[in-house]
Amino acid sequence: MRVIVCENYEEMSKVAANMVAGQLLLKPESVLGLATGSTPIGMYEELVRMNKAGEADFSKAKSFNLDEYYPLAPDNDQSYHYFMNEHLFSKVNIKPENINIPDGTAKDVQAECDSYEQRIAQAGGIDLQILGIGNNGHIGFNEPEEALHSRTHLTDLTEDTIEANARFFASRDEVPRQALTMGMASIMGARKILLLISGKGKHAPLKAVLSGKITTSVPASLLNLHADTVVITDRAAYEG
Ligand code: PGA
Repeated sequence: MRVIVCENYEEMSKVAANMVAGQLLLKPESVLGLATGSTPIGMYEELVRMNKAGEADFSKAKSFNLDEYYPLAPDNDQSYHYFMNEHLFSKVNIKPENINIPDGTAKDVQAECDSYEQRIAQAGGIDLQILGIGNNGHIGFNEPEEALHSRTHLTDLTEDTIEANARFFASRDEVPRQALTMGMASIMGARKILLLISGKGKHAPLKAVLSGKITTSVPASLLNLHADTVVITDRAAYEG
């Protein structure tokens, strides 16, 4: 695991955007694994700028998002479909048919999860996976548990995740209690992983990951088993 310590959030966002743009330059038809949350917003802003400047081309790229709240429809402004459209997809030259996000309205959840895994496999697997980290060490919505799931599945959100995400909703009660999320093997199957970590509040999970110890109580710690993971952090998260 390599660690890049940036001075601040802006620098972290630019470093991450440059790595995504570099990936697209090396392999225009790259399959990108994308994340939501507050952490990658600056990276998406920079990618939008780079796309307009001709420095990042999404025309042949495919994308798979990590997760989606269940049950939220794509046009719900709290959904991750909506978030991705707002922050990236409507502003860059990615083709709508190349975008994949788990369907939070799926009636047959297992069929949707199986199909999501199949679509990732048919695309040739994920080349570059972007991740944030939860205060509790989750990645995607793989919450700390005694046993983690390998593949895309429906999961219950933990109380601390509901609490952490309440800031995006009018009230805590409105935060969905479940989500569809890629599993640990879906994530770890990516050829390269960028884990973005920003802010003092993320010092504890970052420290747990960098300790090198692997435990399902910090799902991100499993990234220590991955051959090509880069942690891009700001000084606030790194020093605490
Ligand atoms: P955040 O969420 O970027 O909004 O802090 C990260 C996560 O929960 O994975």
